[in-house]
Amino acid sequence: MILLSDYQPPDWRVEALELRFELDPEDTRAHSRLRVRRRDGSAPGAPLRLHGRDLQRLSIAVNGAEPSPGGCVEDREGLLLSGLPDVAEIAIETRIRPDANTALEGLYVSGGSLCTQCEPEGFRRITYFPDRPDVLTRYRVRLEADAARYPVLLANGNRVDAGSLPEGRHYAVWEDPFPKPSYLFALVAGDLACVADRFTTRSGREVALEIYVEHHNRERCAHALASLQRAMRYDEEAFGREYDLDVYMIVAVDDFNMGAMENKGLNLFNAKYVLASPDTATDDDYVHIESVIAHEYFHNWSGNRVTCRDWFQLSLKEGLTVFRDQEFTTDCTLFGVKRVDDVQRLRAFQFPEDAGPLAHPVRPDRYAEINNFYTMTVYEKGAELIRMLRTLIGRDAFRRGLDRYFQRFDGQAVTTDDFVTVMAEVSGRDLAQFQRWYTQAGTPQVTARTRFDAQAGVLQLDLAQRTPPTPGQHEKDPLQVPVRVALLGRDGRRLSARLGGAPEAAEWVLELTAGEQSFQLRGLREPPAAVSWLRGFSAPVLLEAGQGTDELAHLVANDDDAFARWDAAQTLLRRAVIARVEDAVDPTLEAALTTAMAALLEDSAVEPVLLAALLELPAHRELMESFERADPVAVDQARRAVEQSLFAPLAERLSARAPERARWDDGAFTAEAMGERRLLNRLLAVRVAAGAEGALQEAARQYHEARSQTLAMGALAAVNESAECVRGELLADLEHRYRHDPLVLDKWFALESASQVGDGFARLERLLEHPGFRWSNPNRVRAVLGPFMAQNHRHFHRVDGAGYQRIAGYLERLDALNPQTAARLVIPLTRWRRLDEARSARMRASLEELAGKGLSKDLADVVERGLA
Ligand code: PHE
Ligand code: ZN
Repeated sequence: MILLSDYQPPDWRVEALELRFELDPEDTRAHSRLRVRRRDGSAPGAPLRLHGRDLQRLSIAVNGAEPSPGGCVEDREGLLLSGLPDVAEIAIETRIRPDANTALEGLYVSGGSLCTQCEPEGFRRITYFPDRPDVLTRYRVRLEADAARYPVLLANGNRVDAGSLPEGRHYAVWEDPFPKPSYLFALVAGDLACVADRFTTRSGREVALEIYVEHHNRERCAHALASLQRAMRYDEEAFGREYDLDVYMIVAVDDFNMGAMENKGLNLFNAKYVLASPDTATDDDYVHIESVIAHEYFHNWSGNRVTCRDWFQLSLKEGLTVFRDQEFTTDCTLFGVKRVDDVQRLRAFQFPEDAGPLAHPVRPDRYAEINNFYTMTVYEKGAELIRMLRTLIGRDAFRRGLDRYFQRFDGQAVTTDDFVTVMAEVSGRDLAQFQRWYTQAGTPQVTARTRFDAQAGVLQLDLAQRTPPTPGQHEKDPLQVPVRVALLGRDGRRLSARLGGAPEAAEWVLELTAGEQSFQLRGLREPPAAVSWLRGFSAPVLLEAGQGTDELAHLVANDDDAFARWDAAQTLLRRAVIARVEDAVDPTLEAALTTAMAALLEDSAVEPVLLAALLELPAHRELMESFERADPVAVDQARRAVEQSLFAPLAERLSARAPERARWDDGAFTAEAMGERRLLNRLLAVRVAAGAEGALQEAARQYHEARSQTLAMGALAAVNESAECVRGELLADLEHRYRHDPLVLDKWFALESASQVGDGFARLERLLEHPGFRWSNPNRVRAVLGPFMAQNHRHFHRVDGAGYQRIAGYLERLDALNPQTAARLVIPLTRWRRLDEARSARMRASLEELAGKGLSKDLADVVERGLA
C-alpha cells in the first residue's frame, strides 16, 4: 500500500536526460543517459531509486564505469544505486519487446505503429528512471528506425535534426525545452498520414498543428483539427492561457486503454476521439471528440506546465482540466444542456462509486495500484469541487486565482492544497472547511424544508447535511455546501427577497456549513409557489426537499434554470418508477406527469434540446441507487412501464412535435441542428417504447433514409429492445455496411450485446467469436462486455448467476492480456451489496472465485476492495 503520509521529496534531481531508441517491434534498444545531482537538503548518502519493470537490462555504467555489485541492487521496484558522488552520469541500455506488450503501458504496437503510454507508471517499462511526477527534467530524444516501415518519427517538443542512416534506416532528434515528468514522455514511429493546419497565438507565435492518422482516415480529421483550434482560442480568451511550443501533434491509435493522453506537444489519442465524418460519427461522438481534444489541450497548462507532486494529487490536474473542458463545451457547443448531461453522468457513475466499496476521496490518501484511481471521483467530482470554489469566491476572484496559480507554480509539481491556498489568498476567504471536500469521501445528503410566515413575509429554509460512512471513513464532518436557490411565484416568475443583510435579489447562494442550519429570505409579498433548489447543480450532493407533485410540476413548467427544471422532472419520474418497483403504482403521479409532459410538448418556448432531456427517464444505474437493495430486472421493467404508461396517451402529440427529419439530417455541428436531432431521436424512442402505432416502421424508415449517423443510430437504439424482426434486419445491415470500419462496428457490437431480446448468452458468445473481435483491442472488448453488464439486465443479472460467472471468466482471460482494462470492466461485479439477496450472493461468489485466480495487481486490487 502506498500512503500519502509517507511522501518524501526526491533525494536526487535529474538535470538532463538523453534517450536514444533503436526501434523495432521485436527488439527495441533504449539507451538512456541521465545526469543526476544530489538535492540540497537530502539525506546524506541517500541512494538513487530508479524504477524499472519487466525490463531486460543490457548494461549500466556510472560515470563511465560498471558499478560495484553492492552499488547497484535490483529489487521489485527496479534498481537502487548507492555510494554515488553528488553528481553522476548514468548510462543504461535496456531491451524491450513492444510486440509482446498487450498491457498497452510503456512502448507497444498498435496497427503498424510503435507508440507509448507512460502515465502514470509506464515509463519504467521503457527504461530505468525515477518514474515519479515530482522529478522533472529536459528530454533530448533520438529515434532510429527502418525508413520504409516507419517514415514518421515523433517525440515531444521540437524536431531539431533528422536524416538517413545506412541499411535503409533513418533518425530524428527531438528536444523538449520544458522540463517534464516522465509520465509526459511520448514517442511514435509509424507510416501515418499527417493532416496539418496552423494557429497563431494571441502574442503572435505561429504554431503548426498536425494530426497523424492511418492513411485511409485522412478525410476524417477535419472536426478534430477545428476543435483544437477552437480550444486554443478559448483557452486564451476564457483562461488567458497560450500555447508554448512551435508544434502541437495529435496521433490517433486504435489500441488505447483510455480516451487520450496529454504528453507534452504530442498527444496520443484513442482513434475514437479523433476520427469523425457525418456518416460514421453521431453528434455525441462529435461533442466527445471536441471535448477530449480540448481536455488534452488544456492539460498543457493544467497538468504539464503545473504538474502533480505525487499521484495522490491526480485531481489537481484532472479535476481542474475536466472543469475547464466543461466550461468550453458549455460556452462553445452545448450551452444550457451541458450541465444536465454532466449531472446525469455524475449521478449515474460517480454517485454509485461514492456510495459503494470503491469510494475514495477526491484526494485519496492510500492506494495499492494507482492505475485504479483514474476514477469518476477524481475527475468528475474533482471538477465539481473547482466549480464550487468559483461559486463560493465569485468569478472574478476565481479567475485571478487561476492566473496566480499558473504563475506561481509554473514548472513545478504541486498539491491540491497549493491550489486551494491560492484561491483562499485571492478571495480573502478561509477555505479550511472547504478542504474537507478533498479528503472526505461519500456523497453528502442534504435535506431541505421551508416554512412561510405570511404575516412577516419571511421564508425560513431549514437545511441539514449528513455524509454516510465510506470504507475506512466512519465519521464524517460537515462540509461547506453552496446551495443556490430561487423562488417562483404563482405566475412562474422569480420572486425577489433579501437574504440576511444583503440587498434584494432573485437568486441566492446559501452557504451550508453546519450539520443543521437555517436561512431566512425576507421581504416576500406573496407566498412562493415553488422553491428552485440547487440551481445549476451548485454542489455534488443528494438533495431531498420533500416537494409535492404540484410544486415540482410548477418547476417543470416554469423554472428558468435548465438544470433545476430538468431535475424537477427527474424527481417526479424517479418517484413514479420507485412506486412501481414497490408494487404501488401511483396513478395520480403518473397522470400529473403525463399532463406536465403534454404541456411541455405544446410549449414552443422550450428549446428542442432541453425538451429531449426533459422527456428522458433517470438512468437504470441511477435508479438502483434509490434502494438499499433492489432487483435490477424489476427496476428495468418498472422504468419501462412508467415510460409506456406516461407516453402512450401522448402518441399523437409526440409525432406532432417531431422536427422535420429531412431538414435536419445533415450532420451539421451546430447547437441548433444537434438539438433538433436529439429531439427527433428521443421522440422516436419514446414512441417505440410506448408502443405507438407505426413507430417501428418509422424507425426503420429513419434508419434507411438517414444520411447522418446520429439519425441512423437513433433509429437503432429505439428498436434495440423490440422483439420484432425489424431489429435484426437493421442490425444486420449495419454490421454488413460497416464491417471494415472499427469505430462503427464497435457500435454494432455494443447494440447486440446490450439487447435483452432473445437469447443474450448465445448472442454474447457469437460476438466473442466474430471475426472482428479481438481480446487485445480495448475498444472492442469494452463494446462487448460493457453494455452487457450495464444494459442487458435480463441476462447479466440472471437469477442463477450465470451472467456473473461468464463475465468473471472473460475478465480472467482479459486480465492476462490487459490488466488495466480488466480492472475497469470488473467494477459492475463489485456492486453485489445493492442487489436482492439471491443475486447478491451469486455475484459475490463469482467475485470470490475470481479473487482466487492469480490475478494482476490491477484486477486484484479492485476485486479485493469489492469484497471487503
Ligand atoms: N491523463 C489522461 C487524461 O485524462 C488520462 C490517461 C490516464 C490516459 C492514464 C492514459 C493513461 O487526459
Ligand atoms: Zn485529463
